[in-house]
Amino acid sequence: MFEIKVPATSANMGPGLDTLGVAFKLYNSFIVEEIESGLEIFGCNKEFANNNNLVYTSMLKTFKKLQKDPKGVRLTFKTEIPVSGGLGSSATCILAGITAANRLCGDVLTKQEVLDYACKIEGHPDNITPAMIGGMTVSIMNDGANHYNKIPINGGIKFCALIPKLQLSTKSSRAVLPETIPFKDAVYNVGMVSMLIVSLVNGDYEGVKLACKDKLHQPYRMGLIKNYSQISSFVKKSEALGVFLSGAGPTIMVMLKKDDSNTERKLKEFLNGLSGNWETLNLEIDEDGLNIENI
Ligand code: HSE
Repeated sequence: MFEIKVPATSANMGPGLDTLGVAFKLYNSFIVEEIESGLEIFGCNKEFANNNNLVYTSMLKTFKKLQKDPKGVRLTFKTEIPVSGGLGSSATCILAGITAANRLCGDVLTKQEVLDYACKIEGHPDNITPAMIGGMTVSIMNDGANHYNKIPINGGIKFCALIPKLQLSTKSSRAVLPETIPFKDAVYNVGMVSMLIVSLVNGDYEGVKLACKDKLHQPYRMGLIKNYSQISSFVKKSEALGVFLSGAGPTIMVMLKKDDSNTERKLKEFLNGLSGNWETLNLEIDEDGLNIENI
């Protein structure tokens, strides 16, 4: 019996669509136990406790890839990450499923192979990579292989997640994206994402504030989230360093200077005045990524 613990993640980080991501100290844990036959799932919503569960389907795909026949399995979930909230809960399930099957087959896949296969199942590397590796990462796919680098982000920044009572599937949030974009918008994002990364590393707060902007996905997605425009305008006029849609949404992520409790307080007051039932969650960066332990 073993336990796999995977951190929440925030992908895109504004201009870095499908490329940037960061892991947080908020976790989904999965206890995996081999049994004689069948599937038993505990600790998750009834609608997910069946053969279509993403952890289980990812396990089955991995067994097939490794040409092994699975035995029965008992999965016990202890989850902290909202489902379809834009904080990488699907990535935790995919990584947990592959890692679980791999462990039951004798750890034949390397960490890089697990990462590549998880990106293949998920379709994008930007949640999977920080969930596996920890920290803030930039990742690209090259011929089916994930190439990533950790970004040594300056310690003076903190994150605050604004989470509405709303589920938004990545599928519907991708459906509103255009097939093509104007050339000038692509150039705009190249500048923003380059400046954002360097500014986060150097602790250039002015640069972070200037560069946390995007023309590839957020303008198309904002209409899906009630109050997004008001919140984003409020944050942009405040002392906060940046605001972006977390992954495909609906969570909105705000970056603040670590010692700026004044803006955090004003932001919470502002959210209390909105109708959308917004919760706030201060998140610290997880530097370690996925962990597996025999229990
Ligand atoms: N980069 C992905 C997106 C993250 O924005 O759709 C969610 O899977």
